Amino acid sequence: MNFYKATTAAVAFCAAGAVSAAELEVTHWWTSGGEAAAVAEFAKAFDATGNTWVDGAIAGSGGTARPIIVSRIIGGDPMHATQLNHGRQAEELIEAGLMLDLTDVATAEGWKDIVNPGSLLDSCTVDGKIYCAPVNIHSWQWIWLSHQAYADAGIDVPSNWDEFVASAPALEAAGKIPLAMGQQAWQSSGAFGVINVAVGGPDLWNKINVNKDAEAAAGPEMAKVFEAAAAARAMAANSKVQDWNQATNLVITGQAGGQVMGDWAQGEFQVAGQVAGQDYTCLPGLGVNEIISTGGDAFYFPKQDDPEIEAAQKELAKLLLSPEVQVNFNLKKGSLPVRGDIDLASANDCMKKGLEILASGNILQSGDQVLSADTSGQIEDLMVEFWNDPSYSAADAQAKYAEIIAEAD
Ligand code: GAL
Repeated sequence: MNFYKATTAAVAFCAAGAVSAAELEVTHWWTSGGEAAAVAEFAKAFDATGNTWVDGAIAGSGGTARPIIVSRIIGGDPMHATQLNHGRQAEELIEAGLMLDLTDVATAEGWKDIVNPGSLLDSCTVDGKIYCAPVNIHSWQWIWLSHQAYADAGIDVPSNWDEFVASAPALEAAGKIPLAMGQQAWQSSGAFGVINVAVGGPDLWNKINVNKDAEAAAGPEMAKVFEAAAAARAMAANSKVQDWNQATNLVITGQAGGQVMGDWAQGEFQVAGQVAGQDYTCLPGLGVNEIISTGGDAFYFPKQDDPEIEAAQKELAKLLLSPEVQVNFNLKKGSLPVRGDIDLASANDCMKKGLEILASGNILQSGDQVLSADTSGQIEDLMVEFWNDPSYSAADAQAKYAEIIAEAD
């Protein structure tokens, strides 16, 4: 903080009496158009409390940002708050005693009664203490289809995965990329997981990812999943973009037929002024089995030995789950709120579909919630090899996958 700001803050502190005013450095990897619009809602709300949100956006994907975030915390140069995914990514930091216990905030705010589904708060809980504030539900289980691309190809917009695969030749004949895909590991690994659920079914997915059943991973049902993934690989062969939102832009601009991506893609359609049902179609569960996986984001707060900072950290944690902030943030982010008691009246058709599926209870945990960061990393490495090498057979990839699951924790 420079001298001028320090003076101003000191004057504000005196004038405001005992109210603490702190600057919190907050790290996250939300740098696309939609993500930036959403995180600005958090910053605006926090600044309105008299504190200051110092934005620590880290460009690139979670795969780039997470190692930076973790090494800063372990290295003794922690930020004051950070985004991570729901699940086990902070497990070792919590066990090392580096993260702030938020149980008093969670209890005072009644998070146990508010957060829906409860598995999101379970993912924040270690040894009975709560270490994160869940802020949204992002489901991977979607495909986003371009009405423009299908109109140009002269065929109907598909209503399920099989119709999408069958539409590829007509899209290619019209000069379109059937499946948009960025070149980062988490994107092909994420898409593989969605195809796994759609083609193999949620029971098979749970058997493998929750129960770590290596036999199921090596079995005939999973062979069909790998065949489908090989077909998807061929459909994405000419998608030469890097970042997920560049792949989403291929769909928005009608250069690609579809993208298998989490519903954060909605933020990009919104920023582009596109309307669900008119300019694009969303198929939850790839139109095979309408399901929601409870991926998404939670904020963690590295311990600082400064009571004023700690008070501001807890004030931010409380704010992130407040009804107004939940509505304003999630509408921009394209995610579902973690509270079941708010009305997303202005949600678009796709978000409404997501809310209906969530209410129906047809939900799946996310891979991040059930696999260790190490196992997730091994699966991502396999998927990068498989997706980038057309000669890597589905059978060979499945054999390697079964080995990973056999050692999974
Ligand atoms: C996910 C995160 C989302 C999203 C996406 C792409 O890990 O949960 O909020 O923005 O990364 O950056």
